[in-house]
Amino acid sequence: MSNLNHTYKSWRLNKRPVGEIKNSDLSLVEENIPEINDNEVLARTIYFSLDPTNRIWMSDVDQYMEPVEIGDIMRAGGSIAVVEESKVNDVSVGDIIQGGMHGGWQDYFTVPGNDIIKLPKETGLPLTAFISVLGFTGPTAYFGLLDIGKPKKGETVVVSAAAGAVGSIVCQIAKIKECNVVAIAGSDEKCNWLKNELGVDTAINYKKQNILEALRLACPNGIDVYFDNVGGDTLDAALTLMNKFGRIPVCGLISMYNDWSSTGPKMYRNILMKTLTVTGFLVSDFTDQFEECLQTLGQWVAEEKIKYKVDVVEGIENAPTAVNKLFTGENQGKLVIQTSREP
Ligand SMILES: NC(=O)c1ccc[n+]([C@@H]2O[C@H](COP(=O)([O-])OP(=O)(O)OC[C@H]3O[C@@H](n4cnc5c(N)ncnc54)[C@H](OP(=O)(O)O)[C@@H]3O)[C@@H](O)[C@H]2O)c1
Repeated sequence: MSNLNHTYKSWRLNKRPVGEIKNSDLSLVEENIPEINDNEVLARTIYFSLDPTNRIWMSDVDQYMEPVEIGDIMRAGGSIAVVEESKVNDVSVGDIIQGGMHGGWQDYFTVPGNDIIKLPKETGLPLTAFISVLGFTGPTAYFGLLDIGKPKKGETVVVSAAAGAVGSIVCQIAKIKECNVVAIAGSDEKCNWLKNELGVDTAINYKKQNILEALRLACPNGIDVYFDNVGGDTLDAALTLMNKFGRIPVCGLISMYNDWSSTGPKMYRNILMKTLTVTGFLVSDFTDQFEECLQTLGQWVAEEKIKYKVDVVEGIENAPTAVNKLFTGENQGKLVIQTSREP
């Protein structure tokens, strides 16, 4: 096949957003698919991930990776694609692969042979499991809670953005570890799902309830682990109620990504007063332990001890609008864009 007859679409960053991401901050560009080189494949994207960190990558704050440059294709936090053309030994047309750092917000991309990660075949699981619970969000929950939070049976674990992709898995792993789990989310619907389907002990709608008072009621013995996905006022409320030697895995600060101007937590002093361990972490620092983690998560999914939701938005053209669902709370679980049909 001569792929030069084909074009591909990608979203390129036009300018750095101010506040929430606007369609005009990006451009949908159509270009010719380049001829693949020896030891390369051409892959057609099926799903790409939309993540809160897309907003960080669009800005030029000092961050954990290079920001996306103006004019470059928007980076994705993961993708799943099907090989359409291959010049790599052992990789065939029709193989399903993960995009890694090569698959951005685009419907076709090329991957060099040594970066190809094939997905296992006939797993009995939907493909979307591999861009959610068995992609990056499950391992984020797993390492953040278990390696950093170190929850013990009977302890109280509080989770923010608890109905989201990472948070919902954290809640369920904390229940597997027999903790008292207090989940914080932004709607009654999410709170009902957390209580009735995922089995958390208490769910707090932070948009309706005073977060400090609600946490005080839900945590009569204080908080041992606060899994922070949001920062801001929720972090302050949790800091206020932390027990001595409590642990705070700092996974994300989504309340600040659209505006970094807010000041730090008012209850910072409790890090000293309660001798807390507050640890930021990146899931990418744990890749050498992924195999074991994915085996355990896969087992829990198979045993239905872990449930997960994937929010699929169809059409590459919808990516800049859809990504804002993460900031309004409209997403129901792991948010992905579907750009083409599964084979
Ligand atoms: N450290 C790592 O390696 C790593 C990896 C992946 C993700 N993360 C971080 O983990 C967090 C969750 O990511 P995710 O992919 O699982 O997304 P998600 O939780 O599925 O979606 C984001 C959720 O955040 C909540 N939210 C948005 N703005 C908020 C605000 N101002 N205050 C409180 N809650 C707010 C919304 O839920 P409500 O309806 O409940 O408000 C929204 O649904 C993010 O901070 C992300 O950056 C970190």
